[in-house]
Amino acid sequence: DDAYLITHALATDTLSRLRDVETEQVAFRKGLVKLGRICGYEIIDGAMETEYVPVETPLEETTGERVKGLDDVVIINVLRAATPFVEGLLKAFPRAKQGVISAGRDEEAGMTDGEFPITVDYVKLPEIRPDDTVIVADPMLATGSTMVAVLDHVLDEADDFEDLFVLSAVSAPAGLVRVSEAVPEADLLTVAIDDRLDDDGFIVPGLGDAGDRAFR
Ligand code: PRP
Repeated sequence: DDAYLITHALATDTLSRLRDVETEQVAFRKGLVKLGRICGYEIIDGAMETEYVPVETPLEETTGERVKGLDDVVIINVLRAATPFVEGLLKAFPRAKQGVISAGRDEEAGMTDGEFPITVDYVKLPEIRPDDTVIVADPMLATGSTMVAVLDHVLDEADDFEDLFVLSAVSAPAGLVRVSEAVPEADLLTVAIDDRLDDDGFIVPGLGDAGDRAFR
């Protein structure tokens, strides 16, 4: 249940553009795709093993180094804001299997004790096998209510996997605590940990409503 910051300069650069209120919809969506790709590369670099393999170049045999487990990746898209983010992740993991979960905060019910009731409408997950690295992607981790609900479904489906990563672009401290307490087997990856949540459960300074900025 560790939390790791993704500190690649291109990740923080891209996130800073996403935060900017002047960034319009197309640039926002493209930024999320780019950030997903960079985060994918960072997961590969920081968390996946490599192995030495013989390679036959056109000239002679040599030793190459390959990433192990690139074919055993499951990416779970938490609708809707994660869709462009996942598109970027898929550039790093082109052969990943994909799951989709539609989960949303019941904003009308509002936040109670720092938590939102979560409605889960649709769950479609691929088979998760012991060798799989599972990446659950959602750009925003605010109260963590959505992610805890999503992980409940994932863990219902999978009891044995190589690694379970929760990947977000921006997280609030309270959300990180909630997810790591509820699902200690998950490692949390985020590009930024922001200051706080406001009274409506928005991350401050954050980047606004990622779903709306990408889709509306
Ligand atoms: C946003 C965001 C996360 C969730 C985070 O989704 O994309 O899924 O809120 O909040 P939490 O950590 O407090 O649960 P939203 O419910 O707005 O749905 P959307 O992605 O469809 O816009």
